Amino acid sequence: MSDTAHGHGGGDGGTRRDFLALAGAAFGAAGAGLALWPLIDSMNPAKDVLALSSVEIDLKPVAVGQRITVKWRGKPVFIDHRTPDQISKAQADDKADLKDPQSDKDRVKKAEWLVMVGVCTHLGCVPLGQKVGQPRGEFGGWFCPCHGSHYDASGRIRKGPAPKNLEVPVYSFLNDTTLRVG
Ligand code: FES
Repeated sequence: MSDTAHGHGGGDGGTRRDFLALAGAAFGAAGAGLALWPLIDSMNPAKDVLALSSVEIDLKPVAVGQRITVKWRGKPVFIDHRTPDQISKAQADDKADLKDPQSDKDRVKKAEWLVMVGVCTHLGCVPLGQKVGQPRGEFGGWFCPCHGSHYDASGRIRKGPAPKNLEVPVYSFLNDTTLRVG
């Protein structure tokens, strides 16, 4: 019986095997296609977790006077490589009549690097001033066009409805040229 079964099954079995092999391949391909979703899906929490924790920024390419924006925890973080003039102005403004009094040195770890959450403390718009040519407001910092809040070169609120200075997030310098936010 085994001979017969083998002989008989050999012919049909071959066809059946081919069919099974093709079906298997097709299923495999579909399986692979489907498998992408769970994979991508499972990557989302990882990205979210990453976004929740911290972000590292290489500061080497950021020239003096340049401002860059990075995303952290879904929010824009402004990094301003301040010029000596901007630093002097920010420090001189410590003596100004400040709505949310804070000295410039209490807002930075290194005077040349100002790091802040780029969200207006009024109703959450993203202030202008990060890009070349954008208005920086009356105090040389940032301007929120939503309701007209002006922030100075230290990110302190100076005019308009915003109640607080731009928030300074938790951050640290891992070395001279690497910043970690969060
Ligand atoms: S949200 Fe910025 S001034 Fe209102």
